[in-house]
Amino acid sequence: MARGRLNSSSTQEKDLPKAKINRNSLKQVGRLLSYVKPHRRKFIAGFIFLILSSLTGLAFPAFLGALIDVAQGNKLKYPLLPATLTGIGMLAFIVLFAQAFVSFFRVVWFVQVAERSLADIRRDTYFKLITLPMNFFSNRRVGELNSRISSDLSQIQDAMTTTFAEMIRQLILLVGGIILLVIVSFKLTLALLLLLPVLSATAIFFGRFIRKLSRQAQDKLAESNIIVEETLQGIANVKAFVNEAFEAGRYDKNLREVVTIAVRGAKFRGIFASFIVFCMFGAIVGIIWYGSVLVSHHELQVGSLTTFILYSLFVAAAMGSFPELYANMQKAVGASERVLEILDETSEEVSIRESENVIKQKIKGHLSFKNVIFAYPSRSEIEVLKGISFDAETGQKVAIVGPSGSGKSTMAALILQFYHPQSGTILFDGQPASAYTLTDIRNQVAIVPQDVLLFGGTIQENIAYGKLGSSKEEIVQAAKRANAHQFVTSFPEGYDTVVGERGVKLSGGQRQRIAIARALLKNPSILILDEATSSLDSESERLVQEALEELMKNRTSIIIAHRLSTIREADQIIVLEKGEIIEKGNHQELLANEQGLYKYLSGLQFEV
Ligand SMILES: Nc1ncnc2c1ncn2[C@@H]1O[C@H](COP(=O)(O)OP(=O)(O)OP(=O)(O)O)[C@@H](O)[C@H]1O
Ligand SMILES: [Mg+2]
Repeated sequence: MARGRLNSSSTQEKDLPKAKINRNSLKQVGRLLSYVKPHRRKFIAGFIFLILSSLTGLAFPAFLGALIDVAQGNKLKYPLLPATLTGIGMLAFIVLFAQAFVSFFRVVWFVQVAERSLADIRRDTYFKLITLPMNFFSNRRVGELNSRISSDLSQIQDAMTTTFAEMIRQLILLVGGIILLVIVSFKLTLALLLLLPVLSATAIFFGRFIRKLSRQAQDKLAESNIIVEETLQGIANVKAFVNEAFEAGRYDKNLREVVTIAVRGAKFRGIFASFIVFCMFGAIVGIIWYGSVLVSHHELQVGSLTTFILYSLFVAAAMGSFPELYANMQKAVGASERVLEILDETSEEVSIRESENVIKQKIKGHLSFKNVIFAYPSRSEIEVLKGISFDAETGQKVAIVGPSGSGKSTMAALILQFYHPQSGTILFDGQPASAYTLTDIRNQVAIVPQDVLLFGGTIQENIAYGKLGSSKEEIVQAAKRANAHQFVTSFPEGYDTVVGERGVKLSGGQRQRIAIARALLKNPSILILDEATSSLDSESERLVQEALEELMKNRTSIIIAHRLSTIREADQIIVLEKGEIIEKGNHQELLANEQGLYKYLSGLQFEV
């Protein structure tokens, strides 16, 4: 469904779903209600209590009016109320107590239901996100995705805990208030209701306008948050290029736009607010005047007039609160639509439970590419691999060399099934990749990537990521074989040293050895080494090289190499240029080709 959107990130941003509330959008949002279903009893109970508390709220103007009328010795119009001051006062307190009781539970229950369902939605959205195919991520900014899990879901949460309840409450006050107005004085109500259509029409018109502006402000603000996130992520770059001022300027420009939009919105909001205040209170003054006329003609009692005025205040307040509530509802609908958009994407078929993460179909290690043609879906016009074919026998070392951008890492991504070739096949043990589950392939292929990213956590946890639930012994064993044990134990906290964003920064060579330990623990049939382009000093290089030799034992290895010295022993070397294999053979054979790229490249490297 999302083809069109996926293909271009720029249109994706412009096409942000408008938060229109109509049948269709409500039907969409209704799907999120399935998350409330498990808690429906509490929700319904809360809903009933909400109605009760709103209804009891409507009783007070009647009590007040009755008190005044009884105090003046007038006869009461409503047979339901007691006829003495004490009686009315007592009843008022009982109702008040009931209201307090009911309000407490409706607030608590609504929040409980909302929090629990929201946690479910958050969990599902997160799981959906991380199981989406790689392609989804190459088209989106991390900041934007992040905001869906944080701000969009908070918006939905607000709607569930507050906006929805408030809307129901105000609706009851509005309808109940109008009914009671009619009961108290039909003539006065008629006068009041004549004013209402004019007021509401204007309110709707203004509301539309304000909504549009607030949407714009929201989008702009999201944009500026992305700037913050991206600069903080790449703070070293910002500093290294002394681009602090540039980034600050960029942020400032964005903020100014936010302010401009918000201020423009504020003016209209202000006009709207004062308009409502003027008209509503103007109407009330008019009503009081007309009511007083009726009182002087003995058509109305003073107490009833008081009741009437209080009800019309209720009605006015309810009407006044609708634009804002409606705007919040719209925001929530917009947020829901964006969240649903993610939930509607198609996931990769990976195991849903950790316990299902087991190998069902063993791969021995024979890997072949048959005429693989591939273009990244985000740039479908550029073929990155143009008909690649090769065979890696079980246990062989196959090296891939070639200039930067020739498609080496792309081949690794294809082996891992991050993307699928447009034509041609990738075979494991002679069977096409489609014959295996994703879980089976990824569990038996390990990669030591070009740039190793460690998670925030301890070194031990980072190594154990290769095989969750490994024992400490296994982890230390793997670290030793990866030449990492020594440097790890040199830290005061050893394996419990925290690394990643908030911990110790490891050097490139150290990070690589952690990644090697991780891969050793995973014990894959096929190993992909995407050699780091940044060169290590000769000592770390030796340590990493030794660790790699250890890792390559007894399995098929695909080595993407930048230093040709590391691949002399390879069974097969594939020379890649602009997505095509231009040479194939072992070190000796390739050197024999005087005009070959390999000969040229190795000439360059070994001369130095
Ligand atoms: N996610 C992506 N989306 C679109 N194009 C991409 C993506 N990743 C890589 N490319 C493009 O595909 C081509 C091959 O990239 P690849 O990363 O495979 O090169 P490489 O051979 O690994 O280079 P290096 O030696 O610098 O690591 C490049 O032109 C690159 O711009
Ligand atoms: Mg690469």
